[in-house]
Amino acid sequence: MAIKPYHYELPLDFNQPSHRKAMESALREVKEQFGLSYPLLIGSERVDTEKKITSTNPAHPDQVVGFVSKAEASHIDQAIKEAWRAFDSWKKVPAADRARYLYKAAAIMRRKKLFLAAVEVYEAGKTWAEAEGDVNEAIDFMEYYGRQMERLGAPVPLTPLDDEDDQAFYVPIGVGAIIPPWNFPLAILTGMTTSAIVAGNCVILKPASATPVIAAHFVEIMHEAGLPYGVLNFVPGDGGTIGDYIVTHPLIRFISFTGSREVGLRINQLAAQVAPGQKWIKRVVAEMGGKDAIVVDETADLDKAAQDIVTSAFGFQGQKCSACSRAIIVDEVHDVLLNKIVERTKKLVVGDPDNFNSQMGPVIDPKAFEKVHSYIQWGKEHAHLETGGGTMDRDGYFIPPTIFSDVKPGSKLEQEEVFGPVLAVIRARNWQDALAIANDTEYGLTGSVFTAKRDRIEQASDEFEVGNLYINRKCTGAIVGAHPFGGFNMSGTDSKTGSPDYLLLFMQMKVVAERF
Ligand code: NAD
Ligand code: ALA
Repeated sequence: MAIKPYHYELPLDFNQPSHRKAMESALREVKEQFGLSYPLLIGSERVDTEKKITSTNPAHPDQVVGFVSKAEASHIDQAIKEAWRAFDSWKKVPAADRARYLYKAAAIMRRKKLFLAAVEVYEAGKTWAEAEGDVNEAIDFMEYYGRQMERLGAPVPLTPLDDEDDQAFYVPIGVGAIIPPWNFPLAILTGMTTSAIVAGNCVILKPASATPVIAAHFVEIMHEAGLPYGVLNFVPGDGGTIGDYIVTHPLIRFISFTGSREVGLRINQLAAQVAPGQKWIKRVVAEMGGKDAIVVDETADLDKAAQDIVTSAFGFQGQKCSACSRAIIVDEVHDVLLNKIVERTKKLVVGDPDNFNSQMGPVIDPKAFEKVHSYIQWGKEHAHLETGGGTMDRDGYFIPPTIFSDVKPGSKLEQEEVFGPVLAVIRARNWQDALAIANDTEYGLTGSVFTAKRDRIEQASDEFEVGNLYINRKCTGAIVGAHPFGGFNMSGTDSKTGSPDYLLLFMQMKVVAERF
């Protein structure tokens, strides 16, 4: 099979009647599958457990998208054993052959794109565009990491010595745990899992409890693509219950985690302890939260800034690690821009995500609903409510897009990750003040600057302390291969997913020096 250069997937235009009809049919197909059960996968064995995760539709919590078996400690032990057994042969499969499984899985995902997107609409509450974007990104990760592994599979160039044959090559590190979040339920899970696998490792995958059905479909696709059993083991379960067991397991070599700061730090701490029988330092890749800011100065195109702030703040209900949760606007244009942002926000259509017209859906679950409302309550007491702030008279975890102005730098709403449709607008004295406010956070994931001034663009490039800085554009929507993604400081280990360096996190270099 000839491998074409990597190109990212392009989004479908759902205004085209054929695409729209196809999506409506996919939504019907997924609805017909509501309530099905999905087992664990341990080696080649599908295990149906008595205890299940009930995955529901956040727009209509009485609708059960699926029941997914729950792993207990004994299943984790068994899955890790099967993964090590598979590792013996998988690590010897040539890199280019391992990559082919990813290309085949990507092709299957492409064929099933709208079905998978429809699962996300019902399980995660994503709108059509957000759901399709997530599936596209999952495909991109596999196409990209496959090609990166082919590159890294070649011997490492060395300085030749006269009397030695020296070689260096990358080898996998062993069996790891993949612990993804629910907010990009297919893309992040696929990227995290297939990167580790294509590098020659075997894994146990514990998906987020809110989105285990889309995870089960992913596991099926990988095996439909011919992935040998044991390389990928599927062990859903409640993170708070089995997470520590997985992380502290002496036979776990690495943990690839994406999620909250709180859980990431706990994993980092637990993984540093050496368990009896453990013979390595566990590697931890931890990508965590954000308190991302868009800074706008007096020279910016304000209409463009307003549009991109609204998109970044309220896309997928603000539940992106990259979401704009702070708009920091210089005094000179603050009132005009705030007005433009509020006007655009009021026009957003909030409704059932399976409806083509909806631009925003529900937040993921009751816990998120309560948490976001506690920040809204705080905002009502300490800032000025511009729009939103209420509830919607319907079932589901819907929160209208909410904007607070007069949010003070250093205050709770300006510092803590809300992870919902709440935007804090902060007035800055001037450009320097705005940049200082943007940097006054322990996080450092994404940020944007809207300005027409070249010197300010240069200054932001040097001084805005984020892993992903965008100029005159939204701060969400990184594209695999174009925008390697990962944050500084408490946003994580800056592992940069979708970058040429990412796979190295799951490999080590072996050197063989032979005298002759
Ligand atoms: P979370 O930390 O609650 O859960 C993430 C995963 O960890 C889930 O699979 C969960 O079951 C598991 N988990 C929970 N407790 C655990 C424990 N004690 N041990 C091991 N695993 C455990 O996060 P979430 O709510 O799923 O996702 C939202 C968070 O993820 C936000 O903070 C968001 O900013 C962050 N996020 C970051 C990135 C990034 O690239 N930096 C991307 C997406 C999401
Ligand atoms: N990669 C996702 C984005 O950039 C988180 O929005």
